[in-house]
Amino acid sequence: MMVDAVIIGGTDTTRNQLGCTIGLFTEHPDQWKLLAAQPDLAPQAVEESMRYFGAIRATIRFATEDIVYRDTLFPAGTMIMPSTATANRDTDVFDDPATFDITRDPPGQPQLTFGSGIHYCLGAALARAELQEALPIIAQRMPDIAVDGVAEWKPSTAAIFGPSHLPVTFTPASSND
Ligand code: HEM
Repeated sequence: MMVDAVIIGGTDTTRNQLGCTIGLFTEHPDQWKLLAAQPDLAPQAVEESMRYFGAIRATIRFATEDIVYRDTLFPAGTMIMPSTATANRDTDVFDDPATFDITRDPPGQPQLTFGSGIHYCLGAALARAELQEALPIIAQRMPDIAVDGVAEWKPSTAAIFGPSHLPVTFTPASSND
């Protein structure tokens, strides 16, 4: 089960998050241009895109004992699915949470798409590194990326959400490497 968790968790998640993030940036070309011009914004771009449009939107816990939360009893053994996507728009934590802004100030507020607590994502550092590497390069090489056709998305109930089909058009820019 652990090997399975690492293989599935290590591949399907990050590629779907990249798909979600690219889809999101096509709706915010000003932010895409900003990232291309300032690649040092990559860590903030990753956190903000995962906050705003995460590939995983909930996690699962079981109540190990009776829990009363806001006058509601969750008896021991109840399966609970806290919505991390909703928490990522919590106005007590994020100013103007409905706005996608990779320069969000102050940076580093905790987005919950990697979960929390004892089961916090084992691969968070790897996924962050991969996404932080990919996004500025794609922003620089595909500066005018745009959806070209109809994007199709997995069902919102999918455990790992993302585009099943994301046709794009772009003018390739040369590498400065
Ligand atoms: C953007 C990419 C990723 C996202 C959004 C993501 C998200 C998550 C979430 C929400 C959890 C459950 C956390 C909780 O219940 O509190 C989790 C657990 C886990 N993730 Fe990831 N993950 C990503 C990438 C990866 C990668 C790259 C690996 C491995 C190389 C990985 C391996 C795991 C494993 C093994 C667990 C189970 C940890 C445990 O139960 O103790 N994940 N991940």
